[in-house]
Amino acid sequence: MLGNFKYSNPTKLYFGEDALSNLKVELASYGTNVQLVYGGGSIKKNGIYEQVITILKECGKVIFEDSGVMPNPTVEKLAEGCQIAREHQVDLILAVGGGSVCDYAKAVSISAYCEDDPWEKYYIRFEDVTCKIIPVGCVLTMVGTGSEMNGGAVITNHKQKLKIGHVFGDNVFPKFSILNPKFTYSLPKYQMVAGCFDIMSHILEQYFSGEDDTTSDYIAEGLLRSLITSSKIAVKNPEDYEARSNIMWTATWALNTLIAMGKTTDWEVHMLGQAIGAHTDATHGMTLSAVSIPYYKYIMADGLQKFKRYAIHVWDVDPSGKTDEQIAREGLDRMETYMKELGLVMNLSELGVTEAMIEPIANSTLIMEGGYRILNHEDIVNILTNSL
Ligand code: NZQ
Ligand code: ZN
Repeated sequence: MLGNFKYSNPTKLYFGEDALSNLKVELASYGTNVQLVYGGGSIKKNGIYEQVITILKECGKVIFEDSGVMPNPTVEKLAEGCQIAREHQVDLILAVGGGSVCDYAKAVSISAYCEDDPWEKYYIRFEDVTCKIIPVGCVLTMVGTGSEMNGGAVITNHKQKLKIGHVFGDNVFPKFSILNPKFTYSLPKYQMVAGCFDIMSHILEQYFSGEDDTTSDYIAEGLLRSLITSSKIAVKNPEDYEARSNIMWTATWALNTLIAMGKTTDWEVHMLGQAIGAHTDATHGMTLSAVSIPYYKYIMADGLQKFKRYAIHVWDVDPSGKTDEQIAREGLDRMETYMKELGLVMNLSELGVTEAMIEPIANSTLIMEGGYRILNHEDIVNILTNSL
């Protein structure tokens, strides 16, 4: 049975080939000073930077550039961004990039005027925002995280070997997000498929929990089927607009809070992935792909009926003449074959993880309680070892 919930999503989305033309309209609602946040320079190579700058200038904005946001943004970079925002009293933070850039923009938006240490307040003590929040807008160039329509912001603290996400409330969601599937054409294949698996993982984290019949799970299955079809096409032809646009839209719905409504969720794969990321700085989606099959095989018996349903509804496994366990296992086998076909990282050694790193990574892994099994330290060590 669906539990009680309140659903609202304040982010306004513009989607399609002409989506960027709406930036002008949105900019009219904000003051003159704009902090333009971007990453390591991909937007200069693919021409998106020029397009955005032209619009900002046409609208008479004063631009304060904040570039060099790294994949898996750090606490140190966050402090730099806060300094820029405060010094120039920016009226809007415009993020142009992937999840790292969007997450960072949100983190700056709530930290610039925070009187406490933002890392301690938001990421260690998980407190709510109590200070002024600078509005954020996003122009998305990498698909996967769903950051364009949610309140998540993940920050890495290398000194403490911690990578932590805090999911903030409605007031931290981007005010608007601009999604042009063509902006993702220039992504290297490694990033594109990592993003596809990030989407799959977000859906599965919310799907593999509970035993009841919920609409949220049927939506999740539909999203998974669309993702599987489109990612197989996009990996062969990255400029297939239909496939790229389906992937982009699926990513947004996978993590804009909708499919978690009324049910419990797991998120243990992400906790493992974040701990791996804190120790290796590896690409987010690949940290998830490396541990997913070992994790799901480890907990399959605890959620057998759901794994069986997953095999039949998502992977079209024919159940006739098979035990529940055989059906469930066949579903995971088909998922593994698909992951290999996409070219995902399938083990931790490929990410530079060694046996000696297992214990420290296990120590950095947070334990979630909403899935089919509450792991203990030994379970985490076993799953990481099985993933090597
Ligand atoms: O930095 P640039 O030069 O822009 O290059 C980026 C980066 O190297 C490149 N890229 C992005 N768009 C491109 C492009 N290259 C060519 N053409 C384009 N159009 O791709 C690389 C990866 O970008 P990044 O933003 O790091 O990837 P992603 O979108 O996967 O974001 C990862 C971050 O988001 C967090 C992750 O933990 C990680 O820190 N997450 C945020 C979530 C949320 N807000 O809800 C949930 C997720 O589970 C995730 O944890
Ligand atoms: Zn993710």
